[in-house]
Amino acid sequence: MTDFDRAQLRRSVLYVPGDRPRAVSKAETLAADAIIFDLEDAVAPGAKADARETVRAHFAAFPASDRERVIRINALSTPWGTEDVLAARAAMPDAILIPKADDVADVLAVADALDETDAAETMRLWAMIETPRGVLNAPAIADLSRQSGARLDCLVVGTNDLAKEAGMAGATARQHLHAWLMQIVLAAKAGGACVLDGVFNDHKDAAGCAAECRQGAEMGFDGKTLIHPAQIAPANAAFAPAAEDIERARRLVAAFASDDNAGKGVIAFEGSMAELLHLKQAERLLARAAAAAQRERSESP
Ligand code: COA
Ligand code: MG
Repeated sequence: MTDFDRAQLRRSVLYVPGDRPRAVSKAETLAADAIIFDLEDAVAPGAKADARETVRAHFAAFPASDRERVIRINALSTPWGTEDVLAARAAMPDAILIPKADDVADVLAVADALDETDAAETMRLWAMIETPRGVLNAPAIADLSRQSGARLDCLVVGTNDLAKEAGMAGATARQHLHAWLMQIVLAAKAGGACVLDGVFNDHKDAAGCAAECRQGAEMGFDGKTLIHPAQIAPANAAFAPAAEDIERARRLVAAFASDDNAGKGVIAFEGSMAELLHLKQAERLLARAAAAAQRERSESP
């Protein structure tokens, strides 16, 4: 199993409540890199069956998509979990998102359920880290991405649940969560998993959302989970490489490729040292930039 391919774009990952058919079909027309069709917290207990049916019908009508599609199920410990896994598996999304993953067993239980129905190996698992136990066990959970058969390739932070579980209230919660978020990022990087930041709740606050997207990118997240179409553009911008970084990466790749530097492991570059790890970093950045440019071309009318 290889590490998450960081050239793959998951800058903007939009939740859509499974019981809102209009929003479900609209999601496919938006510029999000990935969509999470939600059967869990965005859906009231009385609407669970409706949501399952809406999502089933959507995947049946649109079996293919040019973006990643994920279905968030209810936990297996709830009355809806088992039926959700079977319905999600039948819909054939790219991945199933497991909520409130406390430990490795919560992920393996869903992996086992998929194995029992002979689900293709390409059907991946994403896990929400949104409980205190989940944060403490994040290293072991993220390590599953190296374990063949565990299917895990992405950790998704659930900041609202985490703040609630930890008893943090109000607007300062993210500030206090900071150390835990960095622990989750660290665990994901060590395990070779993708890691996505939590949502920004005030979908009318465009400046606040853009600032939090940039902060998430600076912290090392691969992308941000979103709740509203208006949040897609700021996330795509914040998690795509900046123009000056692209230019610098191009110059660095060219410097390593020059005759003077042939075969060298370390070179002098624009007044500082550049090693092969910087070359690899530059190549990844260019791959992400190319993927972003290609997506932009395919989205433009
Ligand atoms: N995905 C797709 N489309 C969405 C959307 C979403 N998450 N949120 C809103 N839209 C659509 C609406 O359907 C509407 O489309 P229309 O004009 O074609 O009818 C348009 O975007 C504008 O919506 P707006 O009126 O601004 O929002 P709203 O008041 O209908 O909904 C929320 C606001 C917050 C309730 C809604 O955005 C939402 O449910 N977000 C997801 C919440 C969620 O999944 N939470 C769980 C994870 S934290
Ligand atoms: Mg949650």
